[in-house]
Amino acid sequence: MNVLEMMKQHDDMPQDYKTMSVGEMEARVRAIKEKFGERLFIPGHHYQKDEVIQFADATGDSLQLAQVAAKNDRAEYIVFCGVHFMAETADILTGDHQKVILPDMRAGCSMADMADLAQVERAWPILQELFGDTILPLTYVNSTAAIKAFVGCHGGATVTSSNAEKMVAWALTQKERIFFLPDQHLGRNTAYKLGIGLDEMAVWNPLTDSLEYKGDVKRIKVILWKGHCSVHENFTVKTIEYIRQTKPDMNIIVHPECSWEVVQQSDYAGSTKYIIETIRNAPAGSKWAIGTEMNLVNRLIQQHPDKEIISLNPYMCPCLTMNRIDLPHLLWALESLEQGKIVNQITVPSSIAKDAVQALERMLAHA
Ligand code: 13P
Ligand code: SF4
Repeated sequence: MNVLEMMKQHDDMPQDYKTMSVGEMEARVRAIKEKFGERLFIPGHHYQKDEVIQFADATGDSLQLAQVAAKNDRAEYIVFCGVHFMAETADILTGDHQKVILPDMRAGCSMADMADLAQVERAWPILQELFGDTILPLTYVNSTAAIKAFVGCHGGATVTSSNAEKMVAWALTQKERIFFLPDQHLGRNTAYKLGIGLDEMAVWNPLTDSLEYKGDVKRIKVILWKGHCSVHENFTVKTIEYIRQTKPDMNIIVHPECSWEVVQQSDYAGSTKYIIETIRNAPAGSKWAIGTEMNLVNRLIQQHPDKEIISLNPYMCPCLTMNRIDLPHLLWALESLEQGKIVNQITVPSSIAKDAVQALERMLAHA
């Protein structure tokens, strides 16, 4: 199901949760967590709202959350505060005795939706025809379980923004070329950092089923799926130029889901974990313009009053699908468990999970 279909889904949460006071909701969540103890585990991605992240048992970037899910075999219920593909990953990496719950089914990811299996299955034979058996597929974890399964079944692996360099370098020891799904920017930024020229990268357009490349195709080392993050595309070279002109002493740090041009013009680029650690280790009084999701930027502003921190784009919105997970939905999911009901369980069919797990395990073995 893509974001549009997810958004159209009926929200089953009863109306009373919308009128409850924050204090009451927080107290109830605390009490349920206490009651369930280790039977309940709440992972939370860095882009989640503060009202939710305060209850997370583990916070992290996509890689860290995949790792904690794989390690935790005790929790009966994993209430995932993140988006759909992260909950799917948790379901794939946890045991059959564990149930993964997404508090709001409308929490999808528009980037993950930019590659569907039918499109990939149309692209693959065309690429095989062009390049023979020289391509290894890699997919950013921000993809559906079906895409992970396709990649796993063809010998490839998942990557996250924390380990993309390692994984692309590994992939190029396996095959001459890589097919990187679904985020063209993470793929391009990573390959470029590893010394691959832009002229050795082509773009696969899934809407026209064609390769966008000028030159001799034999030179192509990286085929980038034409997908992107609709949050990070709001950081542009113009926003950087504006900061450079108005606040020349600001350091600019961005997530590699930003375009190649933006990453090139920035001072630093890396995953959410990298951004958090860089700001934490920066000296008091240092100044930072951050190009990533707004909930995280706001949290960093609050946590580091000794540093001047702003968003690289002052008109930036948070990731709207991440924001679907709010305190009322978290409480509803937990109270349902208390009443013996499971709402919004995420289950990846075993026919898909068996191949997807291979792609994830190849990554976790290298991480
Ligand atoms: P990371 O958690 O890998 O930094 O990715 C950011 C993101 O967009 C998650 O949806
Ligand atoms: Fe998807 Fe971008 Fe939101 Fe991450 S920030 S969940 S990649 S739309």
